[in-house]
Amino acid sequence: MASLKSKNFLTQVGDATKVVGDTLIYLCYESEAPSGSFLKQLDFETEGAVSAVYANDEFAGKLNSTALFRAPAGWGVRNILLTGVGKRAGIKLDNFRQAAGTISRHVAVKKAEDVIFDCQSELDANRAQALVEGYRLGSWKMLDYKSDPEVKKETNQTISVLCANRKVENKTSKGVERGAIIGAAVSQCRRLAFHPSNYLTPAKLAEKAKGLGKRDGFSVKVLNVTQIEKERMGALLAVNKGSSENQARFIIMQYDGGRKGQAPVVLVGKGVTFDTGGISLKPGMNMYEMKGDMTGSAVVISTMSAIARLKVKLNVVALVPTTENMPSGDALKPGDIVTARNGKTIEIINTDAEGRLILADALDYANKFNPQAVIDIATLTGATLFALGYAGAPILGTSKTVLDRLRAGSKATAEKVWELPLWPEFTTQMKSAIADLVNSGGRPAGTATAAAFLKEFIGDYPWAHIDIAYVDLEPSGQPYSPKGPSGFGVRLLIETLANWKQM
Ligand code: BES
Ligand code: MN
Ligand code: ZN
Repeated sequence: MASLKSKNFLTQVGDATKVVGDTLIYLCYESEAPSGSFLKQLDFETEGAVSAVYANDEFAGKLNSTALFRAPAGWGVRNILLTGVGKRAGIKLDNFRQAAGTISRHVAVKKAEDVIFDCQSELDANRAQALVEGYRLGSWKMLDYKSDPEVKKETNQTISVLCANRKVENKTSKGVERGAIIGAAVSQCRRLAFHPSNYLTPAKLAEKAKGLGKRDGFSVKVLNVTQIEKERMGALLAVNKGSSENQARFIIMQYDGGRKGQAPVVLVGKGVTFDTGGISLKPGMNMYEMKGDMTGSAVVISTMSAIARLKVKLNVVALVPTTENMPSGDALKPGDIVTARNGKTIEIINTDAEGRLILADALDYANKFNPQAVIDIATLTGATLFALGYAGAPILGTSKTVLDRLRAGSKATAEKVWELPLWPEFTTQMKSAIADLVNSGGRPAGTATAAAFLKEFIGDYPWAHIDIAYVDLEPSGQPYSPKGPSGFGVRLLIETLANWKQM
């Protein structure tokens, strides 16, 4: 398997005209004439090449635009890439992430190896972090299943941020370090989500979590089916019934970064390694995308990796119920009634509404930890496509505080979320005539009724739910998110937990 660390991110102190490397990146604000000593000197030494691209309207510093120059003779670098970050007034951190994503692909095309970002005086730790995240994520590729060793070969790139002096470097290096850890965690999530279900079974997912826990510093316990039966997780077991080969697992991850005895924040991630729909079989078109129905679990596992590596001062538990959802002679059938861990009975209207079943048992299990808050994340409902599409994730919950914290995390990371209401009508919609609940409330308000169902299984802890169906898969490609699994939610959760205050 390709290594997680294919790129090296560093800082160095020096002068842009003397620093040694392949490509020097210089960030430019939109609609600002080439001022500043660096651009003036470059212009002078290239006999007006810089003012020419500005004068001809070939480059105006617009976000994600670039202009490449050969470095003047005697400089330490070969190329200089001017990159636009947009207008200076009210500039957002995400502009730096995007610009760096654009650069990473530009540089990959040119096969440049050592890249230097000129720090100027304006790159604080947060901007440096954003640059590193964007660079790391923009050129990310899934190569695990390519057979050609040439294709799989990783370029050993060094990306450094050039700082004017030691004092600037001290601040900047913290951002660079954070960006590298967070970028690696998002890449890890994308890779997990990309794995097909014949390679990534529930047992394999549990093994991977164990390996990552050992590497990054969190403990991992895995319950097998016998132990899941002892826990009376009837809803998880019901979904697993159709899988004759691949048995369910329940993964419990624990990171103790807070003081001893501090109530943890509990994360819950949906880990359906393949969702056929079960007996309520999905249509064949695009069904292959349902290998990504374990993305919630990939998000929480990768978040654990990052917070452990960042040494966040908080106790965090992550729970992953993981199973396939398959049709077979033994599979769960519409009309069946199952009993969840908390004792509530559920009439199965549609076996394709399996995610909420396995989350129900995990949300009840979370009570064991006396959590200060619980956040679950899941590719739960196709209805998100009609609510927010690929642009953002619906959030719902019982705690304004937790939802506010997610909104704050969302603002910092540009992973957009928007709250949907948990109105009593939706709870009514999930009542069964013959059992306590139904597992499907039909098409109306599909995202909210799924959350209303989950609400029946939480304890008296503050709770929020994030539905990442569709935002989990980037459909066309964005500056720092190539087509495919996006890793949405990893940065959001890391940011939210890193700034967490005891509740
Ligand atoms: N995993 C799906 C949700 C999904 C759909 C995620 C499309 C990403 C893209 C989930 O298990 C599901 O099938 N939900 C059903 C529920 C319905 C039967 C009540 C849905 O949303 O259609
Ligand atoms: Mn389903
Ligand atoms: Zn599903």
